[in-house]
Amino acid sequence: MLTATPHSGISPRPDRAGAASGTTSGTARDWWRDAVIYQVYVRSFLDSTGDGIGDLAGVRAGLPYLKKLGVDGIWLSPFYPSPQHDHGYDVADYCGVDPTYGDLEEFDRLVAAAHRLGLKVVIDIVPNHCSSEHPWFRAALAEGPGGEHRARFHFADGRGPNGELPPNNWRAMFGGPAWSRVTEPGGPAGAPEPGQWYLHLFTPEQPDLNWRNPAVAEYFDRVLRFWLDRGVDGFRVDVAAGLFKHPDLPDSPDPEADERTRDSVNPLAWNQPEVHEVWRRWRALCDEYADRDGQDRLLVGEVSVPTAREHAKYVRPDELHQAFFFHLLSAPWDVDAFRKVIDEALTDIAGTGSTVTWVLNNHDQVRTVTRYAGEGCASGVSGTEPWNVDLGAARARAAALLMLALPGAAYVYQGEELGLPEVVDLPDEVLTDPIFRRTGSRRRIRDGCRVPLPWSGHASPFGFTSGAEEARPWLPQPDWFAEHATDRALADTRSFWHLYRDGLQLRRGLPQLGEGTLRWLDAPPEVLAFERGDGLICAVNFGTAPAPAPVPGTPLLSSGECPDGVLPGSTAAWWVTDTAPHPH
Ligand code: NOJ
Repeated sequence: MLTATPHSGISPRPDRAGAASGTTSGTARDWWRDAVIYQVYVRSFLDSTGDGIGDLAGVRAGLPYLKKLGVDGIWLSPFYPSPQHDHGYDVADYCGVDPTYGDLEEFDRLVAAAHRLGLKVVIDIVPNHCSSEHPWFRAALAEGPGGEHRARFHFADGRGPNGELPPNNWRAMFGGPAWSRVTEPGGPAGAPEPGQWYLHLFTPEQPDLNWRNPAVAEYFDRVLRFWLDRGVDGFRVDVAAGLFKHPDLPDSPDPEADERTRDSVNPLAWNQPEVHEVWRRWRALCDEYADRDGQDRLLVGEVSVPTAREHAKYVRPDELHQAFFFHLLSAPWDVDAFRKVIDEALTDIAGTGSTVTWVLNNHDQVRTVTRYAGEGCASGVSGTEPWNVDLGAARARAAALLMLALPGAAYVYQGEELGLPEVVDLPDEVLTDPIFRRTGSRRRIRDGCRVPLPWSGHASPFGFTSGAEEARPWLPQPDWFAEHATDRALADTRSFWHLYRDGLQLRRGLPQLGEGTLRWLDAPPEVLAFERGDGLICAVNFGTAPAPAPVPGTPLLSSGECPDGVLPGSTAAWWVTDTAPHPH
C-alpha cells in the first residue's frame, strides 16, 4: 500500500467545525474540540503587494488552498501595528492593522471570506507585554517615577548605591537581563539622568504589563470585544502562563537556568496562581458572545509549564478552552518518549473536560523534517550537522499521521503540509530573530522555519510575492524550495500535501477519529500502536527495520510504501480491522 486514497463515499461524521459544509454557523458550539487549525505566519504566507512581506490580502487569496487542504480554520500570527522587534509580538496598537499587512477593512474582508468558506478565524493576542512604542509605555517614560502609566508596567528602583544594578537577578527569555534602565526626563532644573528600571521577560522593546493593576485587565476586555465584534472566532493567547509575577519580585534561585532554556522555568515570573483569574474573566467574556449565537469563541493558550498536570489547570472548564500541548513537539523521535507524553496528556488533560491540543510545529521551532533528521531533538540548528533529510521527512510524515489520529484537536504550521525542511544556512546578516542578536549570535533558532512559502515555479520568489523582479522575500528562499512548491505538491499524489489532505479527509469521515477513546495495543518494541474507538488502528514504527503490522485489517492510509502485513521503519499507517464498522 502506498499513501492510500481515502475510501470514496465515506459518510461524514457530524460536522463540528463546519469546514466540510462551508459554513461556520450551524456548527457545534464546541467546534474546537477536535478542530484542525492551520497556523498562518502572515509575514511569510503570501504577499499581495510586492514588498516581499506577506499580508492579509495574501492570506485571503490563499483561503481556497486551505479549504482544499481540509482544515477547519486559521490562526493568524500578530498583524497589529508594531515596530517588529519580535515580528509583531511587540504590539503598539491592539486595535489596528500594521500598514505592512493591510488595514481593518482588509481584515474584515478576510474574516468574511473565511466564513464564507466555513473556516474559523483565530487571532493572536499578546497580553503579557506590549511594545515600547505603545502609548502607555511612551507616557510612562515621559511622566517619570510614580506616574499612573508606570504603574501599568513593572518599574522599580535599581539596587546598588546609585541604583545602577537591576532590581533583581532575573534573566530574559531571549538572552540578557530581564531589566533595562531608563533615562528619566530632566525636571525644570535638571538634565536627563539614569533612573528606574523596567521589567521585560523577552526583549527590552517588549515591556511586561503589570496585571496587578486593574487598568490592564479592563483594557484587554475592550480589546477582546473590539475583535469579537469584528467577527473573530477566537484568540491564540501568547505567553498564557505569564502575566503575573511574584508580587515582591524576589531574586530567582537559579537565574542561569532561566536563560539556558526557552521554557518558562523561573517559578517567580511564570505560572502564578493569579493568572487563572484572568482566564476565567476572558472565558466569561467569550461565553457572552457564544451564548448569543451558539458558537464558542475559542481561547487557545500558549502554555509552557513543566508538567502535563500543571498544564491541565489552564483548561479547566471555566478557563481556556485549549492549551497547546508542547510536550509532543519537544519529544525526541523515540517510541517510549512519544508514548509517555501521549499518556500524560490523555490522563491529565482529558480529565479536565477539555481535549488535548496537539502540535508538532510552529513559528518558534525547528521544523519536524529537520528536527527528526538528526539524533534526538534539536533545539537549535547549524548548517554543519549531518542531517538525513530523507529520514527526517519519512519520520515527519509518520508523525503527522500519528498526530491526526490522536484524540483531540491539532494545529498545523504553514509549510508543514509541504514537508518543508528548516532552512539551516541563512546567512547571519539576514537573521531577524531577536534571540540571535541577544545571545551574541549563539542561538539561531527561529528564522529558518519562517522563510516565505514557495507557491509555484522554479526560482525564488516562487510565486510568494507578486512584485517586480527585484522584489525579494523578506528572508531568502533557497533554490531547493522548488521541490516543495504548492503547485508541485498538489500535482504529486505522493507529496506531504496529499498525505495531510487525505488524513484530514479521513479524519472528517471516520467516526472513530477526532474526540473519543484511545486503547494501546501490544506491538513490537519500536512500534507504537493504538485503537481509536471501534476498530480504527494507528501504528507508527519508530525504528528503521520493518515490523509486522500489529493487527490485520483493511489499510486506509500510510505515510510511506507499506507492503501487506508489514510496517516499514519510520512509517505510520491507519487501518480498520475487519470486524470494525467499515466506512461506507
Ligand atoms: C511566543 C511567541 O510564539 C513568540 O514568537 C514570541 O516571540 C514570544 N511569545 C513573545 O511574545
